[in-house]
Amino acid sequence: MRPPLLFAAVALWAQQAMPPPKRFEPKPPPEQPLAFHHKTHAGAGVKCLDCHAIKPPGDRAGFPAEAVCMGCHASIKKDSPEIAKLAAFAKEKKPVPWVRVYKLPKTVYFSHEVHVKQAKADCAECHGPVAERTAVGLEKSIHMPACMSCHDRFQAPNKCDLCHDTH
Ligand code: HEC
Ligand code: HEC
Ligand code: HEC
Ligand code: HEC
Ligand code: HEC
Repeated sequence: MRPPLLFAAVALWAQQAMPPPKRFEPKPPPEQPLAFHHKTHAGAGVKCLDCHAIKPPGDRAGFPAEAVCMGCHASIKKDSPEIAKLAAFAKEKKPVPWVRVYKLPKTVYFSHEVHVKQAKADCAECHGPVAERTAVGLEKSIHMPACMSCHDRFQAPNKCDLCHDTH
């Protein structure tokens, strides 16, 4: 059974007015530490999940280890200045400080595992046709109304505490 305190917290949260829907503004790709292009790599036959392995904690899609990149780039284009930057990070065992594009506030719960593996949602539903892009910008909304309207479409639940930690 849930402790009464938790009931109170949920009740309090539920009383909070639904915020006015945020208008979605697409954002151009940010400046990245090196010029990685998805389009080139889709052509090289690497799959999304080869580089973005979904794993706990947090079920993030995450970013590939530099060793994954160097698996090819120890030989491919090793004289390119962009690959030199990559090799320098790999040599110092420093992760490339990629600038994040899609980011939720910390208070919202989201799992790639559930959406990709259970609900079988395509990456493109939430991120657009990344394989056709050179640089990635924010082109799909991850605001609350976008989450909720897809949940309606798939008859998934939409209770406030599904996505919001209420305690
Ligand atoms: C499966 C092999 C493979 C992996 C893994 C791989 N790449 Fe590549 N990469 C390629 C190929 C093939 C090209 C195109 C080379 C060409 O233009 O001849 C390329 C091109 C590039 C270029 C452009 C280089 C230039 O100057 O033209 C950059 C930068 C790059 N990759 C970065 C990365 C990064 C960062 C990672 C890891 C996140 C990565 N690559 C992982 C195969 C790979
Ligand atoms: C060779 C490795 C590689 C492959 C394959 C790859 N990605 Fe990426 N992805 C990266 C790297 C490196 C970044 C960070 C640089 C950037 O934003 O372009 C990134 C960034 C992203 C982002 C932006 C993340 C953020 O900051 O919010 C999304 C979304 C994404 N990838 C989706 C995909 C999808 C969908 C596919 C398959 C179509 C894919 N990626 C294939 C390496 C890869
Ligand atoms: C239902 C929508 C949805 C789908 C489907 C989805 N993503 Fe995401 N993605 C998000 C959200 C929301 C975030 C921001 C997460 C956060 O900040 O906590 C995100 C963030 C990311 C990031 C940034 C790093 C991270 O894990 O936070 C990458 C990379 C990414 N997604 C790649 C992918 C790839 C590859 C696929 C397909 C295999 C995919 N996504 C499918 C919604 C989705
Ligand atoms: C492409 C449609 C789609 C989008 C967009 C989407 N969802 Fe979902 N979501 C689903 C479906 C379908 C389920 C039910 C999955 C199941 O139970 O098999 C689900 C389930 C969930 C769950 C419950 C699963 C769990 O881990 O307990 C949470 C939480 C959730 N979504 C959060 C979000 C958030 C936050 C966003 C927006 C950033 C979002 N979703 C966007 C389709 C979507
Ligand atoms: C399917 C996931 C989901 C459900 C269900 C959900 N929210 Fe949200 N909510 C979000 C996301 C994502 C954000 C992050 C802000 C944004 O980008 O829209 C958010 C933000 C908020 C905020 C912060 C205000 C703001 O504009 O950032 C409040 C307040 C809020 N939600 C209230 C609620 C209430 C009340 C309910 C129940 C009626 C609810 N939410 C149900 C996903 C959800």
